[in-house]
Amino acid sequence: MRKFTTMMTAAAALLAAGTAVKAEDVEVLHWWTSGGEAAALNVLKEDLEGQGIGWQDMPVAGGGGTQAMTVLRARVTSGNPPTAVQMLGFDILDWANEGALADLNIQAGLEGWDDVVPEALQAFAKHDGKWVSAPVNVHSTNWVWANKAVLDELGIAVPTTWDEFVAALEKVKAAGKTPIAHGGQAWQDATVFDAVAMSTGGPDFYKAAFIDLDEDALGSDTMKEAFDRMAVIRSHVDDNFSGRDWNLATAMVINGDAAFQMMGDWAKGEFLNAGKTPDQDFLCFRFPGTQDQVTFNADQFAMFAQGPEVGKEQAALATAILSPSFQSAFNVVKGSVPARTDVSDEAFDACGKKGMADLKKAAGSGNLYGSMAHGHANPASIKNAMYDVITAHFNGEYDSATAVDELVTAVQINK
Ligand code: BGC
Repeated sequence: MRKFTTMMTAAAALLAAGTAVKAEDVEVLHWWTSGGEAAALNVLKEDLEGQGIGWQDMPVAGGGGTQAMTVLRARVTSGNPPTAVQMLGFDILDWANEGALADLNIQAGLEGWDDVVPEALQAFAKHDGKWVSAPVNVHSTNWVWANKAVLDELGIAVPTTWDEFVAALEKVKAAGKTPIAHGGQAWQDATVFDAVAMSTGGPDFYKAAFIDLDEDALGSDTMKEAFDRMAVIRSHVDDNFSGRDWNLATAMVINGDAAFQMMGDWAKGEFLNAGKTPDQDFLCFRFPGTQDQVTFNADQFAMFAQGPEVGKEQAALATAILSPSFQSAFNVVKGSVPARTDVSDEAFDACGKKGMADLKKAAGSGNLYGSMAHGHANPASIKNAMYDVITAHFNGEYDSATAVDELVTAVQINK
């Protein structure tokens, strides 16, 4: 009740301030600011405009959404939450626990969301039996993106094991090119670590360490080996990696300045936006040693409660997001795959088709795991503590043994 009162006071303050979003508008906070992301966002904007719903844009740059979540907290604290917010996994559940999210059960019931949204997503989209967010897509983090011409020129086949990958990196380095395009930001280091840890220890290890937060797994020799592999990766990035945005790293692969990037499939949006075609200009493959696994994250739009009922425009946004035609049109551009199981892969390119098939197979064989780096393995407090350790190690502040100890401690303190 107290929270609801806070929201009402906030709404009153917002109106009084004269900066109010028009009733028929949605104000959307998101971090889709790269070229590929903006192109995908346009698909959603145009869809809503077609229904007479205006769009108030609230972009907060910063891949992975860390900065967006900081801005969101400030907006809510000042009593002025946006109508709809791009959000990942545990952040949705945290806000739902605080009683801040609108109930979308009426739309969900009318449109049969329970039957078509995969269970792995429902685990984050529903709270106490209520739908509190609208799933837009499924991304996954254990991908590698490669410049085909560079690989062809150097006679490099798609690597399928860690050792083959290291051999390929050495070959690129020997040819005087940058093997790995990377942006030294905590969330990007963690994105790479998702795949490296999965490849090093396999799915049981990944689950024990990042989802169950098992101290033995966190403190294991396998974890030390994963950090050792991160050091190998560190030795194959260029000197200017520090602070680089992920899409600029993707551009290095697009332009042939680097051979590979390890990044979620939002990277594909950049290749497409640059007019590139899978299998002709670029290759997409699972990080060597994770061919059977998928570490996923799903973008969802959580609706902040503006009163006891879900707003008309919020309901329309949710309905638009879940419609099968939007799910196809948006995800074709974004690089992700649909958040519904009943959407055809016909409109998708080779990487999209592979993404859809991999997801289905992984979900069916118990090989689908929430991404640690993108908020689907554990809550933000633990995720951020893990980020700190992974980044400190990547930048040479910790050796692998120290990183393992620090990881165990970070989880103990924040659990
Ligand atoms: C989001 C993607 C986004 C990427 C980079 C991820 O956390 O799920 O939609 O493109 O961050 O900004």
